[in-house]
Amino acid sequence: METISSTVPLTERSYQGLSVTESAALLRRSIFVEQQCMRICAAWLLEAPAYEDKYVLGYHLWDHAEHVQWMRERLHELRGGHAEADIAPALKFALDEALHARDVTELVAGLYGGVKRALLRAYREHVRMADPAANAGEIRILQRMIPDLEKHLRWSEEILERCPTGGNVAAPWQLYLEYLLSRAGGIHGTFPVSMMPAKERPHAHMVRRSAELKFDSRIARKPLAKYEERESMPHEQSVKEQFAVFFNELWAVGLLASVIVDSWDAGCPWEFHYDMAHHCWDELRHSQFGAIRLKELGEEPSRADTFFFDQSQNWPFLHRLVYLTRDLEVFFMKRKSPRFLKYQQEGDGRSMIFADADWSDEINHVRYGTKWSEYFLKDDARTAEDIKEEIRSFIARQQAEAGVTKTDIPF
Ligand SMILES: [Fe+2]
Ligand SMILES: [Fe+2]
Repeated sequence: METISSTVPLTERSYQGLSVTESAALLRRSIFVEQQCMRICAAWLLEAPAYEDKYVLGYHLWDHAEHVQWMRERLHELRGGHAEADIAPALKFALDEALHARDVTELVAGLYGGVKRALLRAYREHVRMADPAANAGEIRILQRMIPDLEKHLRWSEEILERCPTGGNVAAPWQLYLEYLLSRAGGIHGTFPVSMMPAKERPHAHMVRRSAELKFDSRIARKPLAKYEERESMPHEQSVKEQFAVFFNELWAVGLLASVIVDSWDAGCPWEFHYDMAHHCWDELRHSQFGAIRLKELGEEPSRADTFFFDQSQNWPFLHRLVYLTRDLEVFFMKRKSPRFLKYQQEGDGRSMIFADADWSDEINHVRYGTKWSEYFLKDDARTAEDIKEEIRSFIARQQAEAGVTKTDIPF
């Protein structure tokens, strides 16, 4: 029987179709690459200065999470084993390196032009080699993923086109990643791997998980009106202020992105990463609600107050998660229903649609928080209430050190 380790490459075989073992091996490597794309998108949600780029990266993060979920389910059906355990170090190295771009242009040249273009080719090749009946399960998934990757690449081409040098400055980084992938035998690892020497990196830049949520010069770090002030404003002004608060939910996106990056190597179950990716994407959509509605009302997003993100960045990711889901989101929940009803009574259908979606999403977020804090505290003498107490003492210490006292809820 020919297998993935056969001396006959899959691409040169005389018959159509893939064995269960062969297809599972291709899925394992594809899962690994898509998982690493999630991690890189999360890190760059913090790094990318333009909020529009953050939005795209957050949507792509969720695309990758869904792809991983579908492929893991199929891998399980194929009895395909552990998705990460047999990943070759050369492939891991290539994906580790893809994080370390110097800016968004280089990120899209390397991760998109290099890695995701190769992934798209690999998916098309997987479909081409598969038998329509024997491998129907994989084909269905691949044909759902291919249009997503095509969309990602179209966006990356737009980014490179808008760059004054047409992305030429980022070309060495793309070539470097393409070289690393070829050294790993390509995405599928089905090509002969030569013992090519390691290529020198085009630069020494390393991306560390940022403790700052970066913005470009359009967004000023300014306070937002407090809840009571917003409520007493005339309707249109109140709506604008409320949607400025929605736009500001980028602080929650940043907090979750930091949780995704910091929990990546902590041995968490896949379902945790999947839920965090969903939560992060939801918060990103809430920020997008703000940008959309502000523009409809004749304003551009212009303010951010990242207080909750900033003060939590040195805490363990468990504390960041509990703070968000069991403190802040529970606190803000009581504002959701009156807001929805107010917009309904004012006949403001557009604002009502966004308030409704936000309210619904938040119920899931509190659920995620309960589920995962209980999971992480299973063999821990502390309860979630104890973690909240620890958070209070962190905040008190931080404020004492900085010589400031700031309200817990600034908007
Ligand atoms: Fe939200
Ligand atoms: Fe939320």
